[in-house]
Amino acid sequence: MKENTSDLMQKIVSLCKRRGYIFPACEIYGGFANAYSYGPYGTELKNNIKKLWWKKFVQEREDMVGMDGPILLHPKLWEASGHLSGFNDVMVDCRECKKRFRADNMITEITGKDLEGDLEGMNKILVAEKIKCPNCGKSNWTEVRYLNMMFKTEMNGIDEPVYLRPETAGAIFADFKNVVDSMRVKIPFGIAQIGKAFRNEIVAGNFIFRLREFEQMEIEYFISPDEKWQKLFDSWLEQQQEFVFALGAKKKDIKLREHSKEKLSHYSRKTVDIEYNFPFGWSELYGLAHRGDFDLTQHAKFSGQDLNYTDSENKKYIPHVLEPTFGVDRSVLVALCAAYEEEKLDGDDIRVVMHLPKAIAPIKVAIFPLMKNKPELVKKAKEIFDLLKLDFMCEFDDNGNVGKRYRRQDEIGTPYCVTVDFDSLEDKAVTVRDRDTMKQERMKIEELGEYFKKNIN
Ligand code: GAP
Repeated sequence: MKENTSDLMQKIVSLCKRRGYIFPACEIYGGFANAYSYGPYGTELKNNIKKLWWKKFVQEREDMVGMDGPILLHPKLWEASGHLSGFNDVMVDCRECKKRFRADNMITEITGKDLEGDLEGMNKILVAEKIKCPNCGKSNWTEVRYLNMMFKTEMNGIDEPVYLRPETAGAIFADFKNVVDSMRVKIPFGIAQIGKAFRNEIVAGNFIFRLREFEQMEIEYFISPDEKWQKLFDSWLEQQQEFVFALGAKKKDIKLREHSKEKLSHYSRKTVDIEYNFPFGWSELYGLAHRGDFDLTQHAKFSGQDLNYTDSENKKYIPHVLEPTFGVDRSVLVALCAAYEEEKLDGDDIRVVMHLPKAIAPIKVAIFPLMKNKPELVKKAKEIFDLLKLDFMCEFDDNGNVGKRYRRQDEIGTPYCVTVDFDSLEDKAVTVRDRDTMKQERMKIEELGEYFKKNIN
């Protein structure tokens, strides 16, 4: 039984809090700015997703290297990239209730008209169609105006403002020359990076979908201007979708949306969004863009450095770039949404289970003594825990009856539970219970390590 309503979102949010996945940030102070903290299981899940990404896109490829640049970068970099002048959203305030909205999104939702970038048109429509404030129902608006989405801060010894990076990509371009000079990379090759990014979104929301502080996993893949890029572009798109499947997503919940020629940035040959069918509707999950030579040309111009690449035939050129970009928090959200199931059992019994792919599940094995007041069972269970924890994230759980412990681990998404009973002390075997099938089988303790290695990694 799989629900597909926005009700589902509420259930996932509530499970995340109840089960230590994700909490509203600073709740003791009444919450703050629609921000969230990852709790113990959420942190494991997020780290596993990042590890999986790094393995697929860096470790397993010969044409990729990784890096980790700073969050605070030279302010000139943001002038070169166009973020200082053009990284804007349009906002409008309700004069009555003081609530702030993203003008373009609100107008599209209410009227169905898409006036992206047309400030005058938006101002006119607000008045002409007497658009009502979705919060208070009145129609008394300020002018629609631009808001730069970069967070501004100060740095000791620097006179001008400094910005928290709104994307991780900037540091990759800034270090392109260092990577080429220090590594033996040959075009085509890519640089990957995972890290925090910050955007002063006018409205954050939909749980961890739109945050002001979030994480990205980005790749800049450098190619020759003569490269037949379409094939490489399609291959990246394929691999991005493969990654969504590895999070547990189903094919029917993924679709591609190519940007129309009119909406394409002037330097981009092609941009495609990978959308996911979230409980609140189809929305952008990842993106892939052909950015031409825009970035390196701009950074060469603003830094005064030669960012040409010299190939094996001594030909010099500014490489073109394909940019596959992934949001970490949106990946976590996909994994949670795809995993959640309310399974109908006998009678009216409903089991909430998170069918997370084993590779990203926060806890791989939970180990139970059948009874917590029997020291010999506890001792044996602890021995098994100590053995398995060397290879897997494990949890020792002796709280409540075994049925309750199974249900708790189902909600956490733990693929296997191991129960130590009185027979275990004699036959050196335990009961292994599978999260998805609920099947239980007896297994020798000495075989557990191999079994989990085969079935989990
Ligand atoms: N360097 C290209 C770039 O930053 P983007 O489409 O603006 O492109 C890339 O962002 C990805 O970052 C998005 O596809 C999404 O997964 C994630 N992302 C963007 N804004 C976000 C936000 N406010 N909250 C959470 N994730 C966000």
